[in-house]
Amino acid sequence: MNNIKWEELPFGYRKTNYNVRCYWKDGKWGELEISSSEVINLHMASTALHYGQEAFEGMKAFKGKDGKIRLFRWEENAKRLQNSADGIMMAKPSTELFYQAIEKAVLMNKEYVPPYGTGASLYIRPLLIGSGPQVGVKPSEEYLFLVFVTPVGPYFKEGFNPVSVQIVRDFDRAAPLGTGTYKVGGNYAASLQAGVRAHQEGYAASLFLDAKEKEYIDEAGPANFFGIKGNTYVTPKSTSILPSITNKSIVTLAEDMGLKVERRQIPVEELEEFDEVGACGTAAVISPIKKIEDRDTGKVFEYCKEGKAGPISTKLFHRLLAIQYGEEEDKFGWVTTLNE
Ligand code: PLP
Ligand code: COI
Repeated sequence: MNNIKWEELPFGYRKTNYNVRCYWKDGKWGELEISSSEVINLHMASTALHYGQEAFEGMKAFKGKDGKIRLFRWEENAKRLQNSADGIMMAKPSTELFYQAIEKAVLMNKEYVPPYGTGASLYIRPLLIGSGPQVGVKPSEEYLFLVFVTPVGPYFKEGFNPVSVQIVRDFDRAAPLGTGTYKVGGNYAASLQAGVRAHQEGYAASLFLDAKEKEYIDEAGPANFFGIKGNTYVTPKSTSILPSITNKSIVTLAEDMGLKVERRQIPVEELEEFDEVGACGTAAVISPIKKIEDRDTGKVFEYCKEGKAGPISTKLFHRLLAIQYGEEEDKFGWVTTLNE
């Protein structure tokens, strides 16, 4: 047994017992393999190392009050990984292979699925890399698909308490027609300088603008952005942001709750008009934002005047979690309960 203090878990890597691997060679995927090693053996000329042929996913497994383990919208993660793979010309796992790998990775590490009520969950990290050698700029002829899991707590140390974020103009996370819609490592590398600086300056994350005009909100380093104005949920439409599965789910919940939804460009000045704003994603869940500072103009936008999340963000947060933990009827068919 492990001695994890579940309630105190940060969002970070912790060793578990097993990971699952599958290799693509000679034009096809091999058998799923189970490994207890945290290390991979990789060719020094692999395209993952040299030309950024690397994509990943982030999803979670939740243990309910009934003790059952549930996955949330895994098919969407499979689809997005396939799309990322197409985007940077990698071989892609089929939906079946993706499911077999994540199911195995979770069930082999059952003891690491945090107990119900601790606020923690099991983060699942599928990874796809070009593992074969190339020196010319070409796609690899070999790939490794790997899934590891790690128990995690909240991404922002604030949890559901409001965070501050910083608008940056001197860095772009992704180009307008670049790789922003794919979940590839390069986007995160491009976000590191701004993200580390934001932390040093006291912010939980940086908020990137559209790279072309620098007028519209794109997204935060690790999460999508949304704003609520009256009865309307607004979230950016952009060719350089990650299509968040959490955001897509919140849109459905918002509509179900009678809110109007707008996916459109959000000019920076419009931040003035929102009643509530937040960041959303698998890791961030729904993180209410209390302050946005524009690093260049010095302008500050403030929310959560009472020191806590607004009523609509709070309602969306609780409904999302209730579905993920199996407490609310799964009327949208988002949840897969694992057979142990
Ligand atoms: N945007 C970025 C840049 C992310 O890294 C993530 C996390 O996966 C998201 C948005 C949220 O996406 P999802 O809700 O699918 O986790
Ligand atoms: C996620 O929310 O799953 C992410 O991937 C965000 C970050 C940890 C990269």
